[in-house]
Amino acid sequence: MSILDNRPALKAQIDQVAEVAGYLWIKGWAERNGGNITVNITEWADEGMKALPAISEVKPIGKTLPRLKGCWFYCKGTGKRMRDLARQPMANGSIIRILEDCAHYEIVADQPVAPTSELPSHLAVHDYLLAKGSPYRASLHTHPIELVALTHSRKWMKKDAATKMLWSMIPETKAFCPRGLGMVPYMLPSSVELADATIRTLDQDYDVVMWEKHGVFAVDVDIMSAFDQVDVLNKSAQIYIAAKNMGFEPDGMTDAQLKEMSFAFGLPK
Ligand code: 13P
Ligand code: ZN
Repeated sequence: MSILDNRPALKAQIDQVAEVAGYLWIKGWAERNGGNITVNITEWADEGMKALPAISEVKPIGKTLPRLKGCWFYCKGTGKRMRDLARQPMANGSIIRILEDCAHYEIVADQPVAPTSELPSHLAVHDYLLAKGSPYRASLHTHPIELVALTHSRKWMKKDAATKMLWSMIPETKAFCPRGLGMVPYMLPSSVELADATIRTLDQDYDVVMWEKHGVFAVDVDIMSAFDQVDVLNKSAQIYIAAKNMGFEPDGMTDAQLKEMSFAFGLPK
């Protein structure tokens, strides 16, 4: 028995998470238990789900998040591998609900798999998105090799330096990651400080932010779209490296060409 039985719309969301988890492994972005995914599934929580008992004790989130009262999330399990989640999403992640106090949660299904250690960042971001009236319901943290490598240089950590370079490698990157890449200086993984800095940076009008020397954190309407934004950014980083490996600094598209795209496609920046 699974909570997904007879809930095809909810199952479709979890199937998409599993599909993306497989891509993360194939890309080489998900060593061991690297990366995590959460999806706000509240709109699929029916009365039958609401009547289910908890299968864990009540646990603190580490933050009080007023917009998450009664919300439901699918969360990757801490220490779980994306390559395992790709085959068995409900054995390597779980469905949780947030309690009335907005500061605690309990696991409801299918197994008592403890959620990701980055839960404070994920849930704080979902709270922020709801407060903003955003339609985004999914958040992805992953370790894309080339993008992480960029953050080992102070040059690329400067505000919008990496965005400009990445956008200029190939038109698709600006078209499909139109807000660019925000930069968060190194902070302890799973810390509340990292969660707060992630929100401050997303709030500067980005959908994807870089955690220096660690990974990216991306938000979008669903997990496939969040993955796509990271995928186009990392593709650009690979093109940059390919040019450097051929022995030259790539020219990049011109400022005029980048501006022309914003005008032609109605991009926000
Ligand atoms: P979890 O296994 O707790 O999700 O952690 C993976 C990770 O990438 C931490 O930043
Ligand atoms: Zn990580």
